[in-house]
Amino acid sequence: SQVNEDYRPIYHFTPETGWMNDPNGLVYLDGEYHLFYQHYPDSTVWGPMHWGHAVSTDLVNWESLPIALYPDSLGYIFSGSAVFDAENSSGLGTDENPPLVAIFTYHDAELANTDSETFQSQAIAFSLDKGRTWEKYEANPVLPNPGIRDFRDPKVSQITNPDGSKSWLMTLAVLDQINFYSSPDLKNWSLIGVFGKNIGAHGGVWECPDLLPFKTPSGEDKWVLLVSINPGGPQNGSATQYFIGDFENGQFTPDDTMIRWLDYGPDNYAGVTYSNLPAEQNRTLFIGWMSNWLYANEVPTVAWRSAMTVPRELSLFDVNGTLLLKSAPALELEKLRSKEFLVNDQSSTLPSEAVEIAAEIESDSFTMSFSNVAGDSLILSKENGLVSIDRRKAGKSDFNKYFAAIHSAPMSWEAKEIRIFMDASSIELFVNDGELAMTSILFPSSPWQNVTVSENVDSLKIYKLKK
Ligand code: FRU
Repeated sequence: SQVNEDYRPIYHFTPETGWMNDPNGLVYLDGEYHLFYQHYPDSTVWGPMHWGHAVSTDLVNWESLPIALYPDSLGYIFSGSAVFDAENSSGLGTDENPPLVAIFTYHDAELANTDSETFQSQAIAFSLDKGRTWEKYEANPVLPNPGIRDFRDPKVSQITNPDGSKSWLMTLAVLDQINFYSSPDLKNWSLIGVFGKNIGAHGGVWECPDLLPFKTPSGEDKWVLLVSINPGGPQNGSATQYFIGDFENGQFTPDDTMIRWLDYGPDNYAGVTYSNLPAEQNRTLFIGWMSNWLYANEVPTVAWRSAMTVPRELSLFDVNGTLLLKSAPALELEKLRSKEFLVNDQSSTLPSEAVEIAAEIESDSFTMSFSNVAGDSLILSKENGLVSIDRRKAGKSDFNKYFAAIHSAPMSWEAKEIRIFMDASSIELFVNDGELAMTSILFPSSPWQNVTVSENVDSLKIYKLKK
């Protein structure tokens, strides 16, 4: 039988079938990047959550593996992270074969239907065969619910203490705040700090946090706390905010009270970063879920729902004394380029549904529009300090009344160059190598065929991606 594959991305990760949301357990081990994800294999709408699994050796070609974690009597398997416990601090492996440990939220759906508040707790599972098979820890949960409804999405990292010893740090979303917990062994956790009261955006519940160490451009140590929020983003629905500050002994102290967004498009949510990357990579690698809770369950794909963003490298940069977080496309994406076209005209046909477009911008403004035989149009621009993606006429949108919209982001500093990653049902715009990022999903009635740019767009290059 013929499966309807309309809108299937060519180089973005999608589940073969069924529902997908957040990336989970991003961990690197022995040459493999693991990508686990919130998954419901039996339907294309959200339901009892599993952890789906894929691996890649290069971040651009993904191999799907069997489901890693199934729901059980303690609940659905909600979002979380994975670490390599190299010193076997958990005792779940051996010194010779230390474990990968997944830290996730159990969501007891039956209890959630009662007036109980205690249906979410944190638990662990381990793998001794490079993530191929997983065993749940016998004494789960490792962090029981203290009586708070929203208590989830543990992101664990390893911290080196001032005395050189190591401990595990858990960053957890609790209602619309963040709790920090510490553990010597991934099994026993103690609360060491709370953050978020009266600061940041609070238009929704806080989810999927991540705490990251960075060097500023001037060499100072700073910490960045990513916090996804749903709803209450800068566009309608869900988005990821971040805080920049200092972190010590469980206390996160922000530098200021400014609200900052990781990506100003509507479709980058619940993103987190890789753990255990080889030190020589010296980078912070991020993947987000390319959708929005406003309409994720309604988008017009048939065999599966949702894709991940391209992998991005996060770093801090400085604009007139203000630190901001930049999301640059990961270097590995250059591997996807199969053919390069230099465009001298202001208009060109596209060689494929899967393209990267790079261009230089003069005088801080541009427009770039895409069209197809169906008469759809998609317009990207910067004008009067606003970068916009206008998808109002970019194809199918009747599945949700909020979908057809123009999304804009303030960019007070100069736009000098842009890079765009386009696939069958998405566009990712990076201005100045990701100083501003906007991600948007799209459902054109036929593939984009033509691109037209304004006069202030220079050195236009189009790369056909893959094959
Ligand atoms: C974020 C989220 C998480 C939760 C998961 C459930 O998109 O709501 O907070 O763990 O999805 O699938």
